[in-house]
Amino acid sequence: MAEHSYPRFPIIGTPLTQNAIRVMMLGCGELGKEVIIELQRFGIEVIAVDRYPNAPGHQVAHRSHVIDMTDGQALKALVLLEKPHMIVPEIEAIATQTLMELEAEGVVEVIPRARATFLTMNREGIRRLAAEELGLPTSPYHFASSLNELQQAIDNGIGYPCFVKPVMSSSGKGQSKLDGPEDVAKAWEYAASAGRVDAGKVIVEGMIDFDYEITQLTVRTLDASGEAITAFCEPIGHVQKNGDYVESWQPMQMTESARKKSQEIAKKVTDNLGGRGIFGVELFVKGDDVWFSEVSPRPHDTGLVTLASQTQSEFELHAKAILGLPVDVSIKTPAASSVIYGGMNEKGIGFSGLEKALSLPKVAIRLFGKPEAFLKRRMGVALASAEDTDRAREVAKLASASIQTVKPSSP
Ligand SMILES: Nc1ncnc2c1ncn2[C@@H]1O[C@H](COP(=O)(O)OP(=O)(O)OP(=O)(O)O)[C@@H](O)[C@H]1O
Ligand SMILES: [Mg+2]
Repeated sequence: MAEHSYPRFPIIGTPLTQNAIRVMMLGCGELGKEVIIELQRFGIEVIAVDRYPNAPGHQVAHRSHVIDMTDGQALKALVLLEKPHMIVPEIEAIATQTLMELEAEGVVEVIPRARATFLTMNREGIRRLAAEELGLPTSPYHFASSLNELQQAIDNGIGYPCFVKPVMSSSGKGQSKLDGPEDVAKAWEYAASAGRVDAGKVIVEGMIDFDYEITQLTVRTLDASGEAITAFCEPIGHVQKNGDYVESWQPMQMTESARKKSQEIAKKVTDNLGGRGIFGVELFVKGDDVWFSEVSPRPHDTGLVTLASQTQSEFELHAKAILGLPVDVSIKTPAASSVIYGGMNEKGIGFSGLEKALSLPKVAIRLFGKPEAFLKRRMGVALASAEDTDRAREVAKLASASIQTVKPSSP
């Protein structure tokens, strides 16, 4: 496949010298931070960019910048200043039109590709591609630009229960589940107020009554002989609350048929999006049936579990794929992750109870170092490995529950 048409770097340079390979990370939360650490291990020069100072990834990069990444002019100016070889987006809210221009002009390579970041930042782009172009099974859906249109779409076939989501949003923001006609106006209001860029448009999706949902991590890279390959990690099971992940585990047991269908769907989507890197393909599963939900052209939050479960975490896989290097997607042990929340709206909070969490068997804790906590902001994660995923989930939850957030002490 000529899909990987980018020049392969035959030599990894030395950071902070003329021959450095420079990577600009756009978005520096906990996922970006882990990717940066993996890139640093190869001596890649990393420029970390986020919308606020001292983001997790800023704290481990060679240089850092604070800009509004949805501002195309500011983004372009920074790229021209720093001259990265590659841009690695960690978030969706970026001026992706600018990324497409910069890529087309040959100024910089965007991971996995600028078009992939453009299509996936808007639910309409990726849903129409998956369902209408690639013919993948998805929930029934309709796009609506007014309350009236939304009501009509539901009445004319989507029905209840259904989900309403702003076309531009992530982590469940602005998303509601509707059980009947009395929920429609409220859902429209909520979507309109919480959408990222007020596109004034929502997707309404019929509910899929799934048995479980998974993330199929999929890596596109080159093998040792320079051939383009697609590799699949073991499926990750997860639990979502209000559109945000609270727990994940790997491997998720599936029927052979569902497993095969998941990989086929992941292959079709990632082949179309192209480029190199890791993708998180979100799928709903009921028996042997599998539905495509959405895809992140980057590491996935539920994939934090791979820090404990895989030989190479999703972050290491992404870093290697970015560089066009061979990867190992094997699983090492069953493991689980459980989220640690802020529990309060405060800056500079503390964490206690680590001694308790770390006395549990085969547990690891990551605290992300975010400067400001919110009630439901992800501030850290507890990881546990065990003989099976049930036990790992139990221990991971015990570990995250052992950690308390504490208000900063006044001076
Ligand atoms: N059509 C649907 N049928 C059943 N469940 C759904 C449907 N749409 C969403 N959900 C539930 O809500 C969760 C979040 O939905 P979705 O992934 O579309 O939102 P998101 O804002 O993109 O979240 P994130 O950014 O965390 O992936 C899903 O993982 C699933 O649990
Ligand atoms: Mg999702």
